[in-house]
Amino acid sequence: MPFFDPIESTFYGHCVERLLTSTELAPMLAGGIVEIGPGTARPVVEALQRSGSRVPITGYELDAEAARIASRAVAGAQLGNYTVVQGDFFAASAPARQARCAIGNPPYLPAIVRPVGASHLWGGHDGAHVARRVLSQEMDVVLLMIASISDPVGLVEHARAAGYRVADWLVRPIPFGGYSRQPWVRRRIGELARSGRAFFGPEGYLLAGVTWVRVGGPIAVAGEPDHAATVLRRILTAAGSAHDLDETAGVARTTTVDGRRRARIASGHHELPDRSVSRLSGSGA
Ligand SMILES: C[S@@+](CC[C@H](N)C(=O)[O-])C[C@H]1O[C@@H](n2cnc3c(N)ncnc32)[C@H](O)[C@@H]1O
Repeated sequence: MPFFDPIESTFYGHCVERLLTSTELAPMLAGGIVEIGPGTARPVVEALQRSGSRVPITGYELDAEAARIASRAVAGAQLGNYTVVQGDFFAASAPARQARCAIGNPPYLPAIVRPVGASHLWGGHDGAHVARRVLSQEMDVVLLMIASISDPVGLVEHARAAGYRVADWLVRPIPFGGYSRQPWVRRRIGELARSGRAFFGPEGYLLAGVTWVRVGGPIAVAGEPDHAATVLRRILTAAGSAHDLDETAGVARTTTVDGRRRARIASGHHELPDRSVSRLSGSGA
């Protein structure tokens, strides 16, 4: 089955909507947007419906079944500006492509070997491999979901080294789910935590929807402080200091009520008008 998580995928859709309605970034989106891994396509379909944006978006989905389901969802929504293609996002990234913006909720599960049953969600040894590849494509604007369990500091530094500045971000808590609790993923998250590359608390971790704008090569950003990136780094590393998901298991179980996963709201987070979702946001503009 294609990946769709009511909390995470909905949050991704809200981040995409925020990008589509940004007047400041609008000129950079005019050539179109390419998406890595639409999954069911629901997040972007809903973002397009809510925003009314006419920007053309092409989603590349590796998984054949997901691509079929996504194409049906797009056809059903009667959106003329969203297309889902089955294939590898990176193979499709020809330099001649017109789109200068990439978006996605890329695979971010860290594990040493490809996790059985969740291979399409594998983000390499530190979980950030796919996100780093997207940030190495030299797009002008990149919106990616990044997780505090997947070397967030290294990833923010990679973006900076690739010439990006943080333009906008939203953060919200994500409860641990079945995928992150699989033994090979759990073990790896613990190892990353012990070396200061994964941050989580009793109930889960933090997920950020980060929009970067490319301002040039490493030299262009070298002397320039990126305050938004600094704040983002501080927030993601404050997600918690547990070293093992086992430490968190007892508390996390209390968050499951009637079989439904619920996100607890961490203190200090302020609520936006959508009261079901607690988020922090920032802008580097
Ligand atoms: C975490 S899921 C996100 C799905 C959806 N965007 C959502 O948020 O609900 C990641 C998706 O990326 C797809 N994927 C992984 N690597 C890919 C690649 N190189 N090219 C295209 N799709 C890829 C997976 O098959 C999966 O559907």
